[in-house]
Amino acid sequence: MPNRLKLNARVKGKSLSLIVNGKPHQVPSADAEMPLVHLLRNDLELTGTKLGCGKGECGSCTVLLDGQPIRSCLTPVSAAVGKSVTTIEGLGSPAQPHPVQAAFITEQAAQCGYCTAGMVVESAALLARNTQPGLDEVKEALDGHLCRCGSHQRVLRAVLRASGREQP
Ligand code: FES
Repeated sequence: MPNRLKLNARVKGKSLSLIVNGKPHQVPSADAEMPLVHLLRNDLELTGTKLGCGKGECGSCTVLLDGQPIRSCLTPVSAAVGKSVTTIEGLGSPAQPHPVQAAFITEQAAQCGYCTAGMVVESAALLARNTQPGLDEVKEALDGHLCRCGSHQRVLRAVLRASGREQP
């Protein structure tokens, strides 16, 4: 059964409205306190967002809420009602990647890839508010994102590439 039909079938009485990647969704009010990451991954099948620690400590679940990066493992669905959620899938497409996505590919900044979506989303938010961040600003923005593979140098180069700055 397609996602939307599955979701609509579960709606009984009052439902919650939110926009995900530009598309409106109705969510059962019973799901209001569920962490947003579960709605995204399990109901909407937007599995680019990863669940890591589930405690707000690793950054892998980062998505944008009205353009601001948030930890979707700590954010209840109710906090996104009436707002716009952007996941890694909503930033760009294989045919038209976001500049950060394109730069991550060029710099081969993903290793196992588990942390990558969160880092890309966080970096896109950084470039939206500061088109020319310095290296220290990129480091600060990505400070809460853990990567066990050690891809940090490539990630920094990718974000600076996306901003048009020279790579370190
Ligand atoms: Fe949300 Fe780690 S899964 S911060």
